[in-house]
Amino acid sequence: MVACLIIISCLLFTTPLAAVAGGGTWSLLRPSIGISAMHMQLLPTDRVIIYDRTDFGASNISLADGKCRHDPNDIVLKDDCTAHSVEYDVASNSVRPLMVLTDVWCSSGGLMPDGSLVQTGGFNDGDHVVRIFNNACGECDWVEIPLGLAQRRWYATNHVLPDGRQIIIGGRRQFNYEFYPKAAAAEKSYSFPFLVETNDFKFENNLYPFVFLNTDGNLFVFANNRAVLFDYRRNRVVKTYPGVPGGEPRNYPSTGSAVLLPLRVVQATVAVVEVLVCGGAPKGHL
Ligand SMILES: *[C@@H]1O[C@H](CO)[C@@H](O)[C@H](O)[C@H]1NC(C)=O
Repeated sequence: MVACLIIISCLLFTTPLAAVAGGGTWSLLRPSIGISAMHMQLLPTDRVIIYDRTDFGASNISLADGKCRHDPNDIVLKDDCTAHSVEYDVASNSVRPLMVLTDVWCSSGGLMPDGSLVQTGGFNDGDHVVRIFNNACGECDWVEIPLGLAQRRWYATNHVLPDGRQIIIGGRRQFNYEFYPKAAAAEKSYSFPFLVETNDFKFENNLYPFVFLNTDGNLFVFANNRAVLFDYRRNRVVKTYPGVPGGEPRNYPSTGSAVLLPLRVVQATVAVVEVLVCGGAPKGHL
């Protein structure tokens, strides 16, 4: 089984700081939420939307109101009355089962400017689906758009854009990107050769690329062991950065992680934009 979130060692490109003992304690809020947290997203409402693949058998939490999912495409359980997504309410420490209809295994997503969660793709019958969780209503559930994507997306990366759309980049055997929502219903995907160049034969090593919006409006896209600055509006690479030291892959299958470090704004200007890339494994290792 391929897990989406495995973080192994950490390679830090910063000066180590001396650790200060901060005290504090851990407490267990709930012994179980009924599903595995393969994916999680904190909403502005202080609720956490959690979801797991649907094709791994029953979970430990039932769907609400005796609902069941009949999915002839599911590989393991065609009739399933258990939930594979939940909403965790931090304030009340409670869990509410949610219903996903298609397989969200190794999908991707992100928040829209209005605070709703848009989550795209997945495996099998979920690979072209766009799912929306609207945070504006208290008891909302997932709404699915079956053919919301132009391409199948499995292990793609999403990023919200200044115009309020999301860009959805890559995924297995997808060397392209697309937007949600579409500018027009017929809008297709756009090719992105960088994902061909960074795809290692048999190992891929460039799935779930690390994507950040740069202060100049372009996207910083890191895949495998190198990065480019990409103008998604003109479909053009505007800068190619040097490869990482050692050249080992930082993305899938031994997926590391990356973060845009806090921007230092001085007189309305950001002098330096820094991205920290952490983890990965030598080529050929899982
Ligand atoms: C479901 O419950 C069983 C038995 O307690 C446990 O072994 C399993 O890890 C649980 N699975 C989840 C996803 O919580």
